Amino acid sequence: MDDMTVGITALGSAPLFAGLDREHLENILRFGQRVSFDAGQDIVRRGDPGDAMYIIVAGAAEVDVGGRFHRLGQGDFFGEMAVVAGRPREATVTAVEHLEALRIPADDLQAFLLEEPKVAVGMLKSLVERLREVQDRLDTWIGGVW
Ligand code: CMP
Repeated sequence: MDDMTVGITALGSAPLFAGLDREHLENILRFGQRVSFDAGQDIVRRGDPGDAMYIIVAGAAEVDVGGRFHRLGQGDFFGEMAVVAGRPREATVTAVEHLEALRIPADDLQAFLLEEPKVAVGMLKSLVERLREVQDRLDTWIGGVW
């Protein structure tokens, strides 16, 4: 299988890209730079500027959110928060096995989302989930303090 077919198969199986036809999946693959990371390598670090977001094509990563870890796998994305908000990275994301990803530079993200509105809506849903998770943690913490 060539690189494009591998990428299309990987993205097509992810909830974020469900329902997108081959043409759209190809467009997404064209937008991103293919990058890879070894197990144990930090991909983004908390506090760094947000220069790009990433979509995982193969492998897995972990997000360290205040000592709690979220595992991300094929088709998941990360690194969007700092890019969208123009603020430093919220968390460190580390490859936990060899990881292949698409890197979408910050300068291209807006054009990418305007071309692929279904992906934009899917990202919005995931962002709300992440915000709720942070809110739940805060509620638990405040509940514990009081
Ligand atoms: P960013 O802040 O750019 O860099 C770290 C990334 O970790 C962040 O974007 C999100 O993509 C991801 N992230 C942060 N918090 C969570 C969370 N609670 N669950 C899953 N991913 C998260």
